[in-house]
Amino acid sequence: MKDTLSKIRETAIASCAAAKTVDEVENLRVQVLGRKGELTQILRTLGTMTPEERSEVGKLSNEIKTELEAALDARKADLEREVIGKKLSAEWIDVTLSGAQTTEPFERGHLHPISQFQYEIEDIFTSMGFDVLDGPEAETEHYNFEVLNIPKHHPARDMQDTFWTEDGNLLRTHTSAIQVRGMEKIKPPFRVIGPGRVFRYEATDASHENTFYQVEGMMVDKNISVANLIYFMKTLLREIFKREVKIRLRPGFFPFVEPGFELDINCLICGGEGCPVCKQSGWVELLPCGLVHPNVLRSGGINPDEYSGFAFGLGLNRLVMMRYGITDIRHFLSGDIRFLKQF
Ligand code: DAH
Repeated sequence: MKDTLSKIRETAIASCAAAKTVDEVENLRVQVLGRKGELTQILRTLGTMTPEERSEVGKLSNEIKTELEAALDARKADLEREVIGKKLSAEWIDVTLSGAQTTEPFERGHLHPISQFQYEIEDIFTSMGFDVLDGPEAETEHYNFEVLNIPKHHPARDMQDTFWTEDGNLLRTHTSAIQVRGMEKIKPPFRVIGPGRVFRYEATDASHENTFYQVEGMMVDKNISVANLIYFMKTLLREIFKREVKIRLRPGFFPFVEPGFELDINCLICGGEGCPVCKQSGWVELLPCGLVHPNVLRSGGINPDEYSGFAFGLGLNRLVMMRYGITDIRHFLSGDIRFLKQF
């Protein structure tokens, strides 16, 4: 019996030292000291032994039990400490480490030139009392065309072919889609701009992209005329180009404005003398605009006899290209880090 006991002890102590997880330690505890455990079974047979045997085996068993319990507890504590230690060293962060101490040269990223410019324009307009609106890039035909006075078979749709979803929605072709969405939310008088990404089904080349950026603008109040439009456009251009810019309006057709214009600026490169940039004309086409068509106001629940407004659509890519002398629109979405690093 003594031999059996010392075998149990030896094996248990060895297994305890070899246990790699807390679960293994606990299983061992059950296996030896549990209700059906090896040691417990022996203690159960004490009644069948002679008094001498009983006291000897009982004493030894209790000693082993105490020793084993201590060994199991100690191993368990060690393993628990090990787990915490591992976690601590794996998840340790030196919050005091500065970028300069890393071996890699530390490079801070920055906003894309289009975003930089968009925020600049938002600042200019908010300083003039405009709110900034957002609209969905995936639009309904209703907001992108119908309410803008471009019914289904209107030829103006040909100029703005886009990507359609199978359920009849589309990727918006212009930020003008925010016009009526805006009017449904805000009552006149109001001044809003809506910057965002737009899409066209387009063969790409140096001046055409299938994905580009616009800022829509709209002001509606009593007695808004072309004079208001000219004032805000001139202020905008002065802020962007940091100088007084001469402009001219030419007639332009867009179904959602009447009258509609193309706004040209006096060429900033040659000052109007004529150069390759302005194709010797002295003028550069900059942005389309006009007075909001009565039908569009009506679609937005506004009475055109009471209110009028102007609207414009600023091509962001175009302006950034003019500012930095970028010659190919495809650079913007190329993801080429050499291009982006320059801004
Ligand atoms: N949505 C037009 C386009 O992308 C641009 C435009 C023209 C916007 C005239 C306007 C506007 O607000 O009045 O081609």
